[in-house]
Amino acid sequence: MKILAIETSCDETAIAIVEAEGNEERASFTVLGNTLLSQIEIHKEYGGVFPALAKREHAKNLVPILEAALEEAELLHEDAQVISEETRSAITKILEREPGLEEQFFEFVSECEPPAIDAIAVTAGPGLEPALWVGINFAKALALLWDKPLVAVNHMEGHILAALAQPEAPSIKNQASNKSQTEKLEIKNVEMPVLALLISGGHTELVLMKEWLQYELIGRTRDDAVGEAFDKVARMLALPYPGGPEISRLAEDLRSNLNASSQGRTLEFKLPRPMINEASCDFSFAGLKTAVLYLLKDNPNITEDEKSRMALEFENAVTEVLWKKTSRALEETGAQTLVIGGGVSANTHIRRAFTHSMDTTCPSVQFRIPSAALTTDNAIMIALAGFYRALRKEFITDIIANGNLSLAKKP
Ligand code: KG4
Ligand code: ZN
Repeated sequence: MKILAIETSCDETAIAIVEAEGNEERASFTVLGNTLLSQIEIHKEYGGVFPALAKREHAKNLVPILEAALEEAELLHEDAQVISEETRSAITKILEREPGLEEQFFEFVSECEPPAIDAIAVTAGPGLEPALWVGINFAKALALLWDKPLVAVNHMEGHILAALAQPEAPSIKNQASNKSQTEKLEIKNVEMPVLALLISGGHTELVLMKEWLQYELIGRTRDDAVGEAFDKVARMLALPYPGGPEISRLAEDLRSNLNASSQGRTLEFKLPRPMINEASCDFSFAGLKTAVLYLLKDNPNITEDEKSRMALEFENAVTEVLWKKTSRALEETGAQTLVIGGGVSANTHIRRAFTHSMDTTCPSVQFRIPSAALTTDNAIMIALAGFYRALRKEFITDIIANGNLSLAKKP
């Protein structure tokens, strides 16, 4: 089954075309086309994602990246198309709230043969609703025009499946055809239950999957998401948006350089580990952020070296809390597999610390982290989740954006 997947939940406009085969227990994926445009540079000056701007950028970028993805997948065949008045006016209605998209849409599709795809998957939530709607309406318009079934994808399910997917060992045939390993993924030998630690800009939760696509919420943040805390603390330290990678860079440099002589005075900072000893799998990061704020008030003339020390201590505090809660959840649930997903799972220290702790304390539990390219938002993960939902024939024509869409409710 060839799936065209669209992701516009936040500040990445992404389209992927993935050929998927198999079943839930054993699925394999070949990435035929994958395009992604990040809006980070545009949102930087606002210090965060500005929804109206995200919506406008998605509308501007979707047609060009669709064309690029189809071309990469060798599915782009130019040929003048006749579009009936009825279809044209239905599509005009679908796209009426996406300024600028309709004109580009018709210009492109009237010269392009319907591609040989079997389904269209699109993120329905969670995320920024104005941004989600652009992708959804674009998907609806394509599905109507090309007569393809539509699948609504929960973005967080995409993160989980991307984390479960592993690069397929290259076969002789692939080696010969020079296909890179990231283009072939497989999900197999997954031991249930799976515990997923989802850490992103909008989410921090521990979710249990006892059976495929059935979720139970084990723990969640009571206030800020981890990525949000990284971004806010980075802003306090006058680092550019998004702050996660910046804090990580400062902390990593300092770790690898801890014995090097420091310039001038060097303060040591100590931050709290919120809720670390509480008998629950919930998190709280707002207090950690406030603690950084107070430290900065007490030390207004912080040096660059001290900034790095604060970044390091913040990253250590977050990592310790994440691990403690995850290990508690592993014990409580008896999970046989642990995955980490979401943008923050790109963090080098968190990846290293979890790998080490899993090796030393839970060697019998499978541990999977997505490859670096699959950690932050992308459309491959939406194609993976789209395939799992399509296998269950969960096709839908009237998708609605839901900014707060959740995988599971707390029991
Ligand atoms: O999953 P994602 O791409 O978007 C959402 O669905 O939110 O996650 C984005 C978040 C941002 O808060 C960003 O600062 C954080 O992931 N992030 C990181 C790193 N790379 C991205 N946080 C810590 N360390 C990183 N290396
Ligand atoms: Zn995400």
